Amino acid sequence: MEVIIRETYDEMSQVAARMISDQLLRKPNSVLGLATGSTPIAVYRELVRLHREEGLDFSQIKTFNLDEYLGLAPTHPQSYRYFMNNHLFDHVNIPRGNIRFPYGHAHAVETFCEWYEAEIERCGGIDIQLLGVGTDGHIAFNEPGSSLGSRTRLKTLTEQTVRDNARFFDDIDQVPRFAITMGVGTILESKKICVLASGMGKADIVAQAIEGPVTASVTASALQLHRDVVVIVDADAACKLARADYYRWVHDQKSRLHQRDG
Ligand code: GLP
Repeated sequence: MEVIIRETYDEMSQVAARMISDQLLRKPNSVLGLATGSTPIAVYRELVRLHREEGLDFSQIKTFNLDEYLGLAPTHPQSYRYFMNNHLFDHVNIPRGNIRFPYGHAHAVETFCEWYEAEIERCGGIDIQLLGVGTDGHIAFNEPGSSLGSRTRLKTLTEQTVRDNARFFDDIDQVPRFAITMGVGTILESKKICVLASGMGKADIVAQAIEGPVTASVTASALQLHRDVVVIVDADAACKLARADYYRWVHDQKSRLHQRDG
């Protein structure tokens, strides 16, 4: 795992946006895995800026979102599709037909999930997957105890996640209890993974995920098994990392190497 520590949320978001824009420049028809939550908002803002001011092209990409609440229509202001329209899709030139989302209705969830998995494969797999981390260590909606080999499926949210996400709803009773989510196994098949975490509230779980044991109790820890993961955190989220000095040192040494070679 490569761990990149930046002082502020804006700086860490810049690094992540650059990573995605480099991917699009290298491969204009990339398949992107996208995340919601408050953490990636500034990444999307920067991608929109790059599109408007530097012509970053989204016309050939395909996107797969990680998760969606069960039963929320795309027009519901708290649905993840609404979030993505609002923060990215409505502001860049991605064809609507290239956007895939794990919608679902309770009566046909299994068929839908099988289709979603097959569709990812049909598109050649996800080139780069953006991820946030829940305060209980979940990635997408893979709550503690999720199988590390899990695939796209229906998940029941934990009470902690319902409480965490209540801030986006008028009332905690309105927070859906179910979601369709890519599985840990699905996520681990992405070619590259970029994980973001910001703020003191994530410091403990980030340390457990990166430096603790690989365990289904913290599904983000499964990322340790992936060959190409970059974790980008701000100083607050990094403050419980035992090897923070080493990660900073690695970054300095690599910069020097690039300067020397460049
Ligand atoms: C939700 C999403 C996750 C996201 C997490 C963290 O539960 N399903 O994909 O990573 O929230 O959200 P935030 O970035 O707001 O802390």
